[in-house]
Amino acid sequence: MELREFATHILSADTLKEKLFTPDVLTDDHPGPVVLWKEPSRPLNLRLQKYSRKDRLPSLADHKDPDKRAICLHRFAGHELLAVEIMAYALLAFPEAPTAFRRGVAYTLCEEQEHVRLYMQQMQRLGIAFGDLPLYRHFWAYVPYLTTPLHYLSVMSLTFEMANLDFAPLYGASFAKYGDTESAALMERILRDEIGHVALGRRFLEEWKKPEASDWETWKAHLPPRMVPSRAKGWEFFEENRKRAGISSEWIEKLKNS
Ligand SMILES: [Fe+2]
Ligand SMILES: [Fe+2]
Repeated sequence: MELREFATHILSADTLKEKLFTPDVLTDDHPGPVVLWKEPSRPLNLRLQKYSRKDRLPSLADHKDPDKRAICLHRFAGHELLAVEIMAYALLAFPEAPTAFRRGVAYTLCEEQEHVRLYMQQMQRLGIAFGDLPLYRHFWAYVPYLTTPLHYLSVMSLTFEMANLDFAPLYGASFAKYGDTESAALMERILRDEIGHVALGRRFLEEWKKPEASDWETWKAHLPPRMVPSRAKGWEFFEENRKRAGISSEWIEKLKNS
């Protein structure tokens, strides 16, 4: 299946099964014209809703309660599905980008589909199904700012996915603390994959940045107006995960202090 067809299929699917369909073979012979997809189709139970403060995630101390852990997993699965759709958006929005970038995005997208499936298994174990709780627009609200591949990578890979290099281990450790080794193992798996997703962003940022500009400056210059650098980290900072993704020491230091 062509990447363009794959992306269109994901964004127009109105069942979860179709959104999570992964073709065996992906080709990119006909990237086609630029398409700026407005809004992904969703089944009713997975529709994007408005977020309000009362929907804040349970605190770490609440993880003792399996229902509260299930709420967290549901939220994370929602982020994964949004990531799938935003990556599909990027494939349609940037047909002229180098094939290596498009293939990297598509590969990442397929891993995000797998993450949704894995979260669904854990939710089922804890007694809920994907769609039992509300889902939010979150990342999708930033789509108007993803005007070039570098803007896309700066927001998606190098901010949201980079923040997960802290959140995944933080939540994983908390789930483990309350004996939920299966959810903890999933967070470890997610972390491993996210390191690769961040590395993809870093690789192309280095390739595309102006030679005189630093990685850090280039990244910051490609963020939406109100997005602050601290969005790329959690409340604890895991330096080694960023090193594994190849992030420079200057970037790590500046982000740590931002
Ligand atoms: Fe993911
Ligand atoms: Fe990811």
